[in-house]
Amino acid sequence: MMVRVLFICLGNICRSPMAEAVFQKLVDDAGLTGKISVDSAGTSAYHIGEPAHPGTRRVLTHHDIPYDGRARQVNIEDTQNGKSYLIAMDSDNVAELNRRFGELPSLHRLLDFADHTSVHDVPDPYYSDNFDYVYRLVEDGCQGLLQTIRTNEAI
Ligand code: 4NP
Repeated sequence: MMVRVLFICLGNICRSPMAEAVFQKLVDDAGLTGKISVDSAGTSAYHIGEPAHPGTRRVLTHHDIPYDGRARQVNIEDTQNGKSYLIAMDSDNVAELNRRFGELPSLHRLLDFADHTSVHDVPDPYYSDNFDYVYRLVEDGCQGLLQTIRTNEAI
């Protein structure tokens, strides 16, 4: 049975695509490609169909991590698989998801899994342009998340 991981932010063009790409690479490098599926979505409809933001593409290219996904909006089916890990980038995303879909036991914030920072929300780089800082946070969170999933799912 596939473990499904869905990263969620507001626009699905900056933070959650970055997390999707970083986490996919960690999964592939760990030989877990067939066991864990990775995706991302946004709470908003603002950027549906668009490629990742140039800042996210720049950082990923710099780290040799491929990404060619397009933005989509999170939907009810995303929330209905009990085995899924819904991983929000910030507390606003969590609040919006709970407002729209009710309490979601599988919903967590990415940085709750990070070992090397006391920050709990991945800041939105859309206006601030701090994509390198966001990358460091995302990587930290993704490493911890993979460890947690491997332990939880015994894989
Ligand atoms: P993201 O960043 O949620 O990390 O994809 C944003 C992208 C777009 C907007 C806000 C944040 N926007 O307001 O359009």
